[in-house]
Amino acid sequence: MKTLIRNATVVLPGGCERVHVLVEGSTIAAIDAADHARADTIVDASGLHLLPGVIDDQVHFREPGLTHKEDLRHASRACAKGGVTSFLDMPNTKPTATNRAALEDKRNRAAASSLVNFGFFIGATPDNLEELQEAERAPGIKVFLGSSTGELLVDDAQALERIFAETTLPIAAHCEDEATIRENASSWTGPLDVADHSRIRDARAAWIATRRATDLARKHGHRLHVLHLSTAAELDLLADHRGRITAEVCPHHLFFHTGDYARLGSLVQMNPSLKTAEDNEGLWKGLLEGTIQVVATDHAPHTLEEKARPYPQSPSGLPAVENSLALFLDQVNRGRCAIEQVVRWMCDAPARVWDMVGKGRIEVGYDADLVLVDLARSDTIVNDRQETKCRWSPWHGTTLRGWPVRTWVLGREVFRDGRFDESVRGGEIRFDHARGGYWAG
Ligand code: DOR
Repeated sequence: MKTLIRNATVVLPGGCERVHVLVEGSTIAAIDAADHARADTIVDASGLHLLPGVIDDQVHFREPGLTHKEDLRHASRACAKGGVTSFLDMPNTKPTATNRAALEDKRNRAAASSLVNFGFFIGATPDNLEELQEAERAPGIKVFLGSSTGELLVDDAQALERIFAETTLPIAAHCEDEATIRENASSWTGPLDVADHSRIRDARAAWIATRRATDLARKHGHRLHVLHLSTAAELDLLADHRGRITAEVCPHHLFFHTGDYARLGSLVQMNPSLKTAEDNEGLWKGLLEGTIQVVATDHAPHTLEEKARPYPQSPSGLPAVENSLALFLDQVNRGRCAIEQVVRWMCDAPARVWDMVGKGRIEVGYDADLVLVDLARSDTIVNDRQETKCRWSPWHGTTLRGWPVRTWVLGREVFRDGRFDESVRGGEIRFDHARGGYWAG
């Protein structure tokens, strides 16, 4: 089966070019100016941009155990619509993904129902070192230095030290200091409001934990990926970005700040918490200058009923996977960044951070995970039209210019202009950790 995508502006590793892309089976077979007249399907993509599919390396798809919020079918439809062709799911499901059996169960579920490619982090606990040492099919180890949704937490200094000293898989860290959070919460005497979330989980809590994780990574020469930075101050800890540390930012920490609680309430309650408008600016600067390498969503759905509980019973997290690419294409149209940078942050960098085989680029021999985007298309995010099972978005009512219109996973078209091919299945992502990660080149 051959598909020829003609006349698109293709975002290649070296920049944008008007070339034809031939897909054969599940891989990219040719990229050139030649007209491959013998393709089975010809797509005229004049006026559109062809990008590698987005790789979202931080999602919470809730299966198993929390499927009233989200499940792999809804979440992977949301991915396909949003141009996300691969995801890495976090271990705070029920049961937690902290051992081989739980990971195997998740992989089997995804193979049966995910429309896009998948990988699953193993979660660290204070006493599952052996499991962490043997999880070779995982992208890495997720460590919660501060508690969040679910029960995973490693805040004991010795347990943390052993994880950095005695494991080899790259570590993805949630950096908020548990002791600081507890101290802030217990010293708060007045009635609680959702805006207090940012006072309890404050900038200090983020800085202390990011400092602890980066110190441990440098001490043990261990690969570390700092998830969802929320403050500009943390960038100082990452400024020396040679070596084995990478960092990530999420759309909500770039587009929302503490002033948005008044309008959106607990819909923008998440961990790490929102910080100030100055932090938004600082994080954008860090991204544009390269101190931050990756953009991912931390897609963490909860139902609107759960979100409506009074703080602090309202849960932390928000859905984003189907709108993340559009949010950044809109920024391209506004002149804030270039489409090549978006591809670097959302496709190429996550593939390299986690040593993915055949992902993240439009290059001959790479997997045909592709998304066609229309930079001229305007559309409004509306709760009722969300594919995520929780059916809401913090960006409800927001009009963006620049949207994905067609998505292919392993050479098969899974999404086209609002319609899905539900027979498409993603594959398990392979990780070759001998490659050495992002900085290995
Ligand atoms: O806000 C968040 N929600 N942050 C996390 O780290 C976890 C997530 C969830 O799973 O709900």
